[in-house]
Amino acid sequence: MGGLIPESFIEELLARADIVEVIERRVPMKRAGREYQACCPFHDEKTPSFTVSPQKQFYHCFGCGAHGSAIGFLMNYEGLEFVDAVEDLARHAGLEVPREASQKPRPSAGLYELMESAAAYYQGELKQSQAAIDYLKQRGLSGEVSREFGIGFAPAGWDKLLKRLGSDEKRVSLLQRAGMLSQGKSGTYDKFRHRIMFPIHDRRGRVIAFGGRALDDDGPKYLNSPETELFHKGRELYGLYLARKSQAKLDRIIVVEGYMDVVALAQFGFRNCVATLGTATNSEQAELLFRAADEVIFCFDGDRAGRKAAWRALEATLPRLREGRQAKFLFLPEGEDPDTMVRSKGAETFSALLDEAQPLSGFLFDHFTAEVDMSSIDGRARLVELARPQVDQIPPGVFHDMMFSRLEALAQHRLDDSRGKPPLPGGTAPIGRKPAQKRTPMRIALAHLVQNPKLSSEAGDAGVLSGCDLPGVEIYRELVDFCAKRPNMTTAQLLELWREHPAYSHLGTLATWQLPGEEKQLAQEFRDAVTGLELQWTEARISRMPKIVDLGPEERATLLQLQQHRQTLIEALQGEKS
Ligand code: GTP
Ligand code: MN
Repeated sequence: MGGLIPESFIEELLARADIVEVIERRVPMKRAGREYQACCPFHDEKTPSFTVSPQKQFYHCFGCGAHGSAIGFLMNYEGLEFVDAVEDLARHAGLEVPREASQKPRPSAGLYELMESAAAYYQGELKQSQAAIDYLKQRGLSGEVSREFGIGFAPAGWDKLLKRLGSDEKRVSLLQRAGMLSQGKSGTYDKFRHRIMFPIHDRRGRVIAFGGRALDDDGPKYLNSPETELFHKGRELYGLYLARKSQAKLDRIIVVEGYMDVVALAQFGFRNCVATLGTATNSEQAELLFRAADEVIFCFDGDRAGRKAAWRALEATLPRLREGRQAKFLFLPEGEDPDTMVRSKGAETFSALLDEAQPLSGFLFDHFTAEVDMSSIDGRARLVELARPQVDQIPPGVFHDMMFSRLEALAQHRLDDSRGKPPLPGGTAPIGRKPAQKRTPMRIALAHLVQNPKLSSEAGDAGVLSGCDLPGVEIYRELVDFCAKRPNMTTAQLLELWREHPAYSHLGTLATWQLPGEEKQLAQEFRDAVTGLELQWTEARISRMPKIVDLGPEERATLLQLQQHRQTLIEALQGEKS
């Protein structure tokens, strides 16, 4: 998705759209000195720990760790994709989003209107058809929930929709592009005939596709819209728009398999359910789910197919399990699905089942331990072989470490966990508290640059770090260069231009660090951090030299020089402190 909207526009947009205004429209804030404060919209709290800095154009919650630019705020708060958040901001700022030449044309507004008209037509037809009404009644659906989900009816016949909406060639071609028509030998006809119609909404509530259920056993049970300009089934979740509309931030979200399950659960008060559209959950959908709620429960049939679907969901979820996020699994007895379950057992029982859902950790280890002989060394070695790649998918953090320890306990063997602790964890946008990171000179230097790009002019001669291979130094160099070119950037602009960079999430965390308030002090602390880096590098070089008895005269001179330099650096740092 990256690179389609020119970077220069992102910069301009963030200069024009004030984050304070953007947030204030949604969350009441109070001024507190140079910043604004509010109770965090992303977690429950009584005293405000959510702050917005107009200067950095950046928000941060000290409670849950959420942070980002105005674009990031819209993505988190409204559950929008990056491009949609940019368009939203641009509309408010009165700007047109330019597209780079390579970009395919955006779907025309006409397509959305057409889908809206089709949905309205199907809803009208439902009112006219006693057979359809009877079917829904027999399935136990209330009129209220049917209306809420916009359920309709496509009447029998070959060209009802075509006649109604395809008044001219242009409209027919739109119907085609929207996937509403089928092409046969004898011409074009309605794709959906004699079916209950479930409109599928995108995250902004626009109708982008339909699922159609047969009323009887004639033909396939479900027919879904094909992939179109508007509809990519791997990127959508049925019911997500309505679930999010019911509450800004859900505590938990439930993933089920069918349209009917989502609607039935809603009728019984579970407004937080979504379904994948007949495909396995992919990792893009996992991310969407976690943006909507910190706890995701996958609720599938207990049969083989359901277990397989759950395992695919687990695999898609692992890389998205950042701090504060949780996935659980609930398997229903064979022959039941959430729809039949909630109707026969009632909302309370279903709710209790959800509360007892199996945590991902249990599901993962049970799955593997069932496959091997845990009483033998060979079996436990096999367990490590199987489970380790999965555990390694989990981003660095407490959960990863605990899963790793659990694997060690099961294997009855210590394992080398080098992968769990890379110098600079990459990853995606944040939600949830991270353990405080140690303040190393490298991190302090990066934090200053992100928060105050002007300081790049204080970075001094890059030559002193030449050959340096300390962790993070490449990012440091890249960031200094980047800031030097645009010293007047805000933190928000900088981060948005780094959104696709592997260090994006790390820099985002550093942007939340508390640094001294005064400009002079800031510059000094940054320079000290850079000196600290130089000191680390000098020490690394000294420690890598062979033993002194093995040195030739030239090498000895180098060592002496290094030692003197180290002393100078130490004194410089101490001089600053006294
Ligand atoms: P009901 O039988 O009406 O209760 O449907 P359900 O929602 O319980 O569906 P089911 O569990 O049988 O299937 C789950 C999902 O898989 C459906 O919601 C569809 O998205 C998809 N699906 C099921 N059957 C078909 C089919 O015949 N064709 C296609 N394309 N998708 C299907
Ligand atoms: Mn069903």
